[in-house]
Amino acid sequence: MDSIEIQPRNSTERKFLKTFESILNTINHNLIGLITVYMSWRIFHGNLTVIPLHAWLCICGFQLLMAEGILILNPENAWSRYIPFKLKRIFHWILQVIGAILGVSGAFLIISRINRKHFVTTHGVLGIIATVTTLLNLMVGLCNYSSPRLERIIGLNTVKTLHTIFGISGFVSALMALFYGYPYYISGEVLTLFEVSTGVTIILTLIGPFKSFFILLNLNDLFSH
Ligand code: HEM
Ligand code: HEM
Repeated sequence: MDSIEIQPRNSTERKFLKTFESILNTINHNLIGLITVYMSWRIFHGNLTVIPLHAWLCICGFQLLMAEGILILNPENAWSRYIPFKLKRIFHWILQVIGAILGVSGAFLIISRINRKHFVTTHGVLGIIATVTTLLNLMVGLCNYSSPRLERIIGLNTVKTLHTIFGISGFVSALMALFYGYPYYISGEVLTLFEVSTGVTIILTLIGPFKSFFILLNLNDLFSH
């Protein structure tokens, strides 16, 4: 296979890119916080029936904890920059397991209460894709964590690549479900603001996993941290 000629980045360019990434990271945390706080405030100011409870569990599980669990592994992530990598991996799986418990319970709660054919709305279809992908990815994540033994059997890159692909798909489908879930609750300009924010959060949260993905595909020089 032909190797790709890549010029090494000079340090000024590198610093500029890192600063730019840090700014994007800060914007992302603000958007995640804004949506979580506003939606929680709306939900807990009304009657806490099944739909609001479902919405809150899914928002906290998928939008807050899953996003933060992915962001923690990004070297430019503000709050985890000085945490050693070994500890980041531990925080990663703790955040993902708690996020999955909340999000998946939220999904099962509403599924158990719907008395009609399931998965007929765009929101419902995306929601069940997110739920199944997340459950599968918890198992793949566990394999990724106990990597040394697996490395010899199936190759570490196979598990890591699979985990990153499932992670990206689960997160995108969950946030797209959220996108289609907002109209049940909010309208007007706030709806537009939240839809745009969700799109921006999807892109900004996945910068790290996409970098890892390219590194796994051996384009190291282009995207090395
Ligand atoms: C990450 C976010 C979310 C996920 C993964 C998710 C997932 C799901 C799933 C799996 C269903 C069951 C579909 C079925 O059995 O047909 C569902 C239904 C529903 N969800 Fe969500 N949900 C999320 C956020 C929200 C939000 C923010 C709201 C806003 C109130 C909401 C409101 C509803 C309603 C009203 C239903 C019943 C109608 C329908 O199936 O479309 N969800 N959701
Ligand atoms: C379903 C929830 C999960 C999602 C969405 C998820 C997502 C991801 C993503 C996207 C990455 C790549 C991040 C990057 O390279 O920037 C990653 C890496 C990783 N995940 Fe998960 N994960 C989940 C659960 C778990 C669990 C339960 C474990 C362990 C028990 C785990 C262990 C790991 C490990 C060890 C890495 C590699 C870190 C490294 O060495 O680069 N994950 N995960």
